[in-house]
Amino acid sequence: MELPDGTSTPALVVDVDVLDRNIERMAAAARAGGFALRPHAKAHKCAEIAARQRAAGASGLSVATLSEAEAFARPGVDDLFIAYPLWLDAPKARRFGRLAGAARLRVGVDSAEAARRLGDALRGTARPVEALIEVDCGCGRTGVAPPEAGALAEAAAGAGLAVAGVFTFPGHGYAHDPGARARAARDEERALAEAAAALEARGFEARVRSGGSTPTAGEWRPGAVNELRPGVYVFNDAIQLGIGTCAPEDLALAAAATVVSRPAPGRFVLDAGSKVLGADRSPWVDGHGYLPAYPRATVTGLWEHHAVVQLPAGEPAPALGAVVTVVPNHCCNAVNLADELLVAQRGAVVDRWRVSARGTNT
Ligand SMILES: Cc1ncc(COP(=O)(O)O)c(C=O)c1O
Repeated sequence: MELPDGTSTPALVVDVDVLDRNIERMAAAARAGGFALRPHAKAHKCAEIAARQRAAGASGLSVATLSEAEAFARPGVDDLFIAYPLWLDAPKARRFGRLAGAARLRVGVDSAEAARRLGDALRGTARPVEALIEVDCGCGRTGVAPPEAGALAEAAAGAGLAVAGVFTFPGHGYAHDPGARARAARDEERALAEAAAALEARGFEARVRSGGSTPTAGEWRPGAVNELRPGVYVFNDAIQLGIGTCAPEDLALAAAATVVSRPAPGRFVLDAGSKVLGADRSPWVDGHGYLPAYPRATVTGLWEHHAVVQLPAGEPAPALGAVVTVVPNHCCNAVNLADELLVAQRGAVVDRWRVSARGTNT
């Protein structure tokens, strides 16, 4: 990334050309396979990026929370899937009911109890809300076993939801081994096919069969899956680079940081700490981020406002006051810490985008 001169640090910078290329590449892959693309917006939390994804053909957005859905409905995103087993308390039930009147809404369900709460919240609203039954394809997080999807669909329909299909997340594809990514994609296909059959056996059409993640993106095959929800691909990050699902030239987001200290040979300290980069660790990244200009460097320590960088013996460190870029381990958490993204194109600032859904975690 070519940093604009005079960038005041720390700042999160987006290379808009790389961003647009990533968006178009994923949209083209989805088009080629005949998949609907519903990118997960938790990765960017930014209305301008959502608009670019929609312009490239995304059918709608996926989100993780009710407040994220509200934040994207506000600027006019009218087709939202809350890909989460939402559990409504009384205040959330009121918000959910209101949101259902403002946007075409889809919600994840993995228990009859949660479905009842969703149905109760919708009583009296005119617009139907679609439910996708969540199944576990091997990730080991949320979702029922695929054969149980039929009974749960019946419970969701009984609660007043319009059952539209099934969804899953192949999170176990986060692995360095390309074989593991392919296996996760096949697990996803099997789970969605089995869950769809379980719905059909009870008289429901599994019109939507939603899956997808960034690591499994190269492994998709049309058939059992007909909708994809990758998120991180818009920016990519040090984890994606570490597991080999992107190349350095695909990294669209980095923190610009200034060298504020050079306390010892081979060691320097940057002004972007955990409050800028996020604190994610990963077995696939050595340290807390990736420095494109110093690919052999390791961010060995992270404090709130310090990143300590160690270089291999003999490699010269940048000068005090130099501005360098650090790619966060996990872009989603870095973005959630920033008020705005500095939009750069070939070394110039061309815009500033508010992280409009920042902190929408409820
Ligand atoms: C339910 C769900 N769908 C889609 C995604 C997007 O996948 P990725 O972060 O690999 O792009 C996630 C990410 O955590 C998710 O939890």
